[in-house]
Amino acid sequence: MSIFTYQNGALHAEQVSLAALAEQHGTPLYVYSRAALEQHFNAYRDALGDWPHLVCYAVKANSNLAVLNVLAQQGAGFDIVSQGELERVLAAGGDASKVVFSGVGKQAAEMARALEVGVYCFNVESEAELERLSGVATQLGKVAHVSLRVNPDVDAKTHPYISTGLKENKFGIDINEAPRVYAKAASLPGLEVKGVDCHIGSQLTEIRPFLDALDRVLALVDGLAEQGITIEHLDLGGGLGVKYRDETPATAGEYIAAVKERLGERRFKLIFEPGRSIAANAGVFLTRVEYLKLNDHKNFAIIDGAMNDLIRPALYSAWQDIKPVQESSDAPVRNYDLVGPVCETGDFLGKDRDLALSEGDVLAVMSAGAYGFVMASNYNTRGRAAEIMVDGDQAQVVRERESVASLFAGESVFQG
Ligand code: LLP
Repeated sequence: MSIFTYQNGALHAEQVSLAALAEQHGTPLYVYSRAALEQHFNAYRDALGDWPHLVCYAVKANSNLAVLNVLAQQGAGFDIVSQGELERVLAAGGDASKVVFSGVGKQAAEMARALEVGVYCFNVESEAELERLSGVATQLGKVAHVSLRVNPDVDAKTHPYISTGLKENKFGIDINEAPRVYAKAASLPGLEVKGVDCHIGSQLTEIRPFLDALDRVLALVDGLAEQGITIEHLDLGGGLGVKYRDETPATAGEYIAAVKERLGERRFKLIFEPGRSIAANAGVFLTRVEYLKLNDHKNFAIIDGAMNDLIRPALYSAWQDIKPVQESSDAPVRNYDLVGPVCETGDFLGKDRDLALSEGDVLAVMSAGAYGFVMASNYNTRGRAAEIMVDGDQAQVVRERESVASLFAGESVFQG
């Protein structure tokens, strides 16, 4: 089912007109589709079928409570990287026993809270973290389930900022060191070895790097078995890419079929941590044209959305499609750079776009459901956008627009 479609010339999210949402709630505005979130999550669930599994949505991609709640209702687990994300999952009705805790910098208090609520597993990224976790668990009289996140040194062939599985990246434990670190994990008090974890990068459009990593992980698991350490689950991380422009990423179904084939008779429980492939194409970002500035050599459309709202174009030179919410226009088609009001040359959401624009037009930046709002900031003292969830012909504000007063509510002048 297509989620964002033109109906009688007006772009809709499911059955709700985006122009109407912009009118009612103002811009900039994030809009998410419940049906799309469910569809994307269920693609994983259906492909895994009766294979033992847990699909842990990567909360960092979009952590709005309404998004988490929709996925929790579908039975999702969650991949978290901070206590903040854990508290969001709990507040949204998520099940702690389906949570995996990733991240290179877990603090002792975060570990304690995760143990207290009973998360499924810690994905441990260093020996030092292993020792700290053992200490925290022992002190609390708990047993922490652990996977070691291994770094298989494979090239994910993605943007260098979102590639994580190479030797030079900060993530994980060198796979060649892993047998020794597993032996240590098995010997430390308060820990129980459960699995192996690996995440090699994000926005992967090919399956091959995933399978190369899996091969290395399986070789490790065989070696561990000889050491007397048995593994229950393989956590293959997230990373499946989406179509922003003309990419042709594998579907979740194709990816999982390939993984299952590789595993053959070895029915390890499989954990996946998808973020982008669930949320990106479940959301759009609406922004309004404030001014047209037509220079000799360049046309600018100055819009009310900016890099503080959606930083991917500025940070990674990411390309996201930009569509008018009303298909027809009397304005001439021109080539525009779409730039925001922030005082940075890098403040653009799109460049070289042929569009027919007039002041006041509303544009939809597509594929904005993942790594959009969550990476927003208050730079230039701009309040963060409101967020809306659509379900069929219903729409609801799921996060209010930040007021200016709230932006400095916690500040005070020095009283010295
Ligand atoms: N698991 C771990 C351990 C991760 O580090 C990540 C993403 C995921 C799962 C989810 O990966 P996904 O399925 O979403 O690819 N801000 C960047 C993306 C950063 C990804 C960080 N880690 C962007 O906007 O492209």
